[in-house]
Amino acid sequence: MKWTAKEIPDQTGRRAIVTGANTGIGFETAKELAAAGAEVTLACRNAEKGQAAVKRILQEFPNARVTLGMLDLSSLASVQAFADAYRGDHDRLDLLINNAGVMTPPRWEATSDGFELQFGTNHLGHFALTAHLWDLLDATPKSRVVNVSSIAHRYGEMDFDDLNWKTRRYKKNASYGQSKLANLLFSLELSTRVAKAGKGPMVLSAHPGWTATDLQRHNGTARAMNPFLAMEPWKGALPTLRAATAPDAKTGEYYGPHGFMEMRGYPVAVGRTKAAQDLEAARKLWQVSEEMTGVPFDPAQA
Ligand SMILES: NC(=O)c1ccc[n+]([C@@H]2O[C@H](COP(=O)([O-])OP(=O)(O)OC[C@H]3O[C@@H](n4cnc5c(N)ncnc54)[C@H](OP(=O)(O)O)[C@@H]3O)[C@@H](O)[C@H]2O)c1
Repeated sequence: MKWTAKEIPDQTGRRAIVTGANTGIGFETAKELAAAGAEVTLACRNAEKGQAAVKRILQEFPNARVTLGMLDLSSLASVQAFADAYRGDHDRLDLLINNAGVMTPPRWEATSDGFELQFGTNHLGHFALTAHLWDLLDATPKSRVVNVSSIAHRYGEMDFDDLNWKTRRYKKNASYGQSKLANLLFSLELSTRVAKAGKGPMVLSAHPGWTATDLQRHNGTARAMNPFLAMEPWKGALPTLRAATAPDAKTGEYYGPHGFMEMRGYPVAVGRTKAAQDLEAARKLWQVSEEMTGVPFDPAQA
């Protein structure tokens, strides 16, 4: 069966946050959730781009309930401020879609807090965001967290001695791979802790294969190949949407395209590397993420 956005059940009454929703996969995810009736917060770092995205959704779906929230995942202060503002306006959170990402900036760059940009944005920012919003997620029946990873997790390796690439030579692709492996290890440890707590959201992961988006802004070769190999963003968003809404999806699952090397196609449950199933590494990443962000996160305590 080809799973498409038509399969999304009615989302009326559900509240969703999609990070990085002004463009690419995040935009399509936010749009389809809103089209299905969810109230969606587009969590974006650029007000102009965010407002334009809200407008585009409203042009297509005038009754959509979409708002913009300002969130810069490369700043822990911004993450905290976004979560505080959200909590001020909402008493529930059904879907947290940790989608935003940055890929292969050519030179080492730092977040506001001094973390390497890809690890800091793609993993640590989302770790802190999820922790800050946990009480809402925990209190909302049938809530879900979806972490967006990548095929690139396959070449990722966790170097716990230097997660921020400060003492070794910065390698942009390896750094991206590490950050995307971290997304899956975060899902793994989060689902383990939720299972132990005996309560809490479902935790799933997704990846969009190869989709033509702004993600390839730093990679000219990938951009040049996009017209031949990549999927369109609406299709790249389907694995995330399936993980977020399919009634038969199960906690711990990872959705990606069914086709050759998972690069294209309709979403199915896919496998992941051994490194992404390493319980010890997942525990360790959680611990260092708490230390680095200064954000304690105990799902059992919510
Ligand atoms: N496209 C693919 O083939 C592919 C493959 C595997 C995995 N993925 C994953 O899919 C996810 C979505 O990527 P995409 O392809 O849709 O890329 P995209 O079009 O570049 O979208 C990325 C989004 O993340 C936002 N973002 C980046 N840094 C941020 C920050 N510090 N704070 C808040 N938002 C930030 C971007 O905002 P701005 O517009 O302001 O920069 C943009 O909205 C990423 O996690 C990516 O790793 C994509």
